[in-house]
Amino acid sequence: MSDRNSSATIPLLDDTETTLSAAEIAGIDAEIAHAPYRSAVAIDALKIVQAHRGWVSDESLRAIARHLHMSAAELDGIATFYNLIFRRPVGEKVILLCNSISCWIKGCEGLQQQITQQLGIGLGETTGDNRYTLLPVTCLGACDKAPVLMVGEDLHEDVDAQTLRQLFDNSGGGA
Ligand code: FES
Repeated sequence: MSDRNSSATIPLLDDTETTLSAAEIAGIDAEIAHAPYRSAVAIDALKIVQAHRGWVSDESLRAIARHLHMSAAELDGIATFYNLIFRRPVGEKVILLCNSISCWIKGCEGLQQQITQQLGIGLGETTGDNRYTLLPVTCLGACDKAPVLMVGEDLHEDVDAQTLRQLFDNSGGGA
């Protein structure tokens, strides 16, 4: 999943100064209040901004870095290695399909093919109506219930063809 998050080097100097909203700053500062140092809340800050904006653009990342008194490059490195921070635009809901060993053994590739048939999107793609983005993810920690996937915040275990029909039939799709 690192490919999805990989990005070009973030310029450290930029004329386009995106600022954080008052709500974003309040959320981040609430985390800082319980942290030993500002940059310790880097992942929380990324999550907060993503919750407000849907994903974390380069401009957003620079604004977060400024607020945490750290470099954009350092924060980008953290974001890149954290699977659930989206560094590119995504649909309203992200489908995270686990492709680690237990889920692979239990047929995640077949699930991926079925999702592609139902929604008309491959890995890394978003439906034409912007409802879903399909992304691979490493182990979600529910290996005994493999195969598993997440749709938005919801974890689905022991996923089979019927589960996918229930989740995505009538979704329209169309990349
Ligand atoms: S391998 Fe899929 S949840 Fe662990």
